[in-house]
Amino acid sequence: MQNKIELIKEIYKIDDNTEKKQEALEKIKPYVNDIMDRFYEKLLQKDEFAVFIPLDRIEELKQKQIKFVASLLSEPFDTDLYNKIAKVAIVHYHIKLDPLYMAYGYHILSELILEKSKQDMTLLPYLKLIIKYLKVSEAIMSEEYFAQQILAESPYKKVTEKQ
Ligand code: HEM
Repeated sequence: MQNKIELIKEIYKIDDNTEKKQEALEKIKPYVNDIMDRFYEKLLQKDEFAVFIPLDRIEELKQKQIKFVASLLSEPFDTDLYNKIAKVAIVHYHIKLDPLYMAYGYHILSELILEKSKQDMTLLPYLKLIIKYLKVSEAIMSEEYFAQQILAESPYKKVTEKQ
């Protein structure tokens, strides 16, 4: 696992500058509620996404998503954070939201953040960092989605289940 973390850090040039991440989190905080509102608004406009969204749980999901993004920007990039991201990937695997759909979700999030930075230029210096951590979590989600799929389709797993 440590090798994986190191590779991700090298690919995405993560130096885990805690101070800069914390500043980025403080900067984006005033906008997160609005961003999440718009996120669900946009997803609900597309039938293929709307079918995934339980309307009575939107508020709960928004809060969970905000907490998740805050973790990305406040916790060190280590095995614990990786596992946290992997857990969220597994949740989406179980609802059968495949990586392309997930990529669209991340794309929408990034676009909405970009929009905010056009209104508030003081966000600009933190934009690259925020988008980078979103990209990293998207890559981990995709990796873990396929890991789950391989596991589910493995004949060895089925043998174990029968025992
Ligand atoms: C692309 C569109 C997306 C859809 C349709 C979607 C849908 C959902 C649904 C239905 C759940 C609840 C699953 C359950 O409890 O049964 C969920 C949970 C969650 N989603 Fe998404 N999601 C999307 C994208 C994202 C993205 C981009 C993120 C992160 C930035 C994210 C973060 C989360 C988190 C943190 C949870 C809670 C996981 C937990 O309960 O531990 N989702 N999502």
